[in-house]
Amino acid sequence: MMTNISVLVSGRGTNLQSIIDAIESGGIAGAKITAVISDKKDAYALTRAENHKIPGIFADPKSFSSRQAYDDHLLSILQENKTDLVLLAGYLRIISDSLIAAYENRMINIHPSLLPSFRGLHAQQQAVEYGVKFSGCTVHFVEPALDGGPVILQKVVPVLDGDTEETLAARILVEENKAYPEAVKLFVEGKLKVDGRIVTILE
Ligand code: GRF
Repeated sequence: MMTNISVLVSGRGTNLQSIIDAIESGGIAGAKITAVISDKKDAYALTRAENHKIPGIFADPKSFSSRQAYDDHLLSILQENKTDLVLLAGYLRIISDSLIAAYENRMINIHPSLLPSFRGLHAQQQAVEYGVKFSGCTVHFVEPALDGGPVILQKVVPVLDGDTEETLAARILVEENKAYPEAVKLFVEGKLKVDGRIVTILE
């Protein structure tokens, strides 16, 4: 059985790239990215998709009258592509509850902090300003609460004296690009058991 993956993006797509690479190298077996969907026309992630012969789709939010109408359109694209798993990889729009519900426990996001600390935008800057000594990244299932779903994996990095948003973001990104393919591999292999908020990794 092949797991069909669709990836929602808005920007440069390093996390998308890490998953493409893991699939192409055989690190993740039994999965295929069938669509990369962007809400931004010039997202470099679309170029990455094209470079790997993966269909890239620009869905323009301006062509829709509401978030619901836009997300209904996304859902139809996901269904046309027979999507089993939706990955958010630097996708910057809030997603409507109906779209999240359609992919309950089958939609995953990555966030650049140790949740539940520093939800929302500029998580790395929030961490620097708060003065925490460790931060990192979280891969989690998506629920309607922003950055609030069950945690799959976290990776920790130190916050060093003199760190800026940029230097901390770069240190976290190295771990993101490892954590996301790891989590996708576990999902594809059927090793994630979700019970309420608790995700157990099966042997
Ligand atoms: C990452 O920091 C991710 O955690 C956040 O958005 C950024 C996307 O980076 N959600 P990229 O587009 O995958 O390079």
